[in-house]
Amino acid sequence: MQREMSTLPRVYVTRQIPPEGLKILRESGQVQFELWDSDDPVPRQELLQRVKGVDGLLCVLTEKIDAELLDAAGPNLKVLSTMSVGFDHLSLEELKKRGIRIGYTPEVLTDAVAELTVAVLLATSRRLIEATDEAKTGGWGTWRTLWLCGYELANSTVGILGLGRIGVAIAERLAPFKVKKFIYTDMEPRPELASAINAEYVSLDELAKQSDFLAVCCALTPETKEICNKELFSKMKNTSIFINTSRGGVVNQEDLYEALSTGQIAGAGLDVTVPEPLPTNHPLFTLKNCVILPHIASASYTTRNAMSALAANNLLRGLRGEPMIKELKL
Ligand code: DGY
Repeated sequence: MQREMSTLPRVYVTRQIPPEGLKILRESGQVQFELWDSDDPVPRQELLQRVKGVDGLLCVLTEKIDAELLDAAGPNLKVLSTMSVGFDHLSLEELKKRGIRIGYTPEVLTDAVAELTVAVLLATSRRLIEATDEAKTGGWGTWRTLWLCGYELANSTVGILGLGRIGVAIAERLAPFKVKKFIYTDMEPRPELASAINAEYVSLDELAKQSDFLAVCCALTPETKEICNKELFSKMKNTSIFINTSRGGVVNQEDLYEALSTGQIAGAGLDVTVPEPLPTNHPLFTLKNCVILPHIASASYTTRNAMSALAANNLLRGLRGEPMIKELKL
């Protein structure tokens, strides 16, 4: 644990964040901050103690910022900065009630997340993990005509569930693979974003029916919770590949297991699950047609440092009473 003492506003940082953000906090001369100097999450009880009386809080997505935590922090807390684009770990209602401003980190991670989405899509559709396992464990007998065949992007229809910056960035990267058509669904049409990738707005039903590759890019909200369920999977083609790099909570995992194990859909590539980490004995891990990554979409050195720097700058600006670089307006 590191503690830097002074009379400046007090800030608690819930994790060892990448160096660029720490440097900004240290060199600002604007705050005294205490850091949970570990790569692992701060235990909840410890967190509830540490936040007492702080003016600012910099957290990551594993911390649940709810009424209990805000009560423990008390009325000094004015600014919360999360080092994430997702904010489903924040109780927005409680934060709003207390007038606490919120910083978050969109945009700086778009490239990294889009890149990883393409990677997991190809790993799933071309069965790369299965293939390397076979090569390593003696399954590689001879060249066989249909062995380890998968599905290609050329001439395919790619569906995007939730079209935002990340969905557009994914489509831009997939277009050179000769995708035939991009379709998307969202709460409403998003013509400005869609025109950049020539994507057609369709209903959720049509998205399920037409997509050869369905990429989930929406935020987790009460409206999108388990939106990918039996009903959706049952409409998908049995040659379709399902990809989720947004939040595990948008998927009903029992229904996904059923769809994958019965051949209702061809494969799934997931960077996010419920819970995280997914227990190693989870049924999804038994399926060869399911590729599971440990929430690494934004995990490049450049991006994580940029997220850390943005989170630090949001926090400092918020504490100065200035507009944040990226502020979530409630
Ligand atoms: C986020 O920022 O919300 C991503 O899930 C992790 O980078």
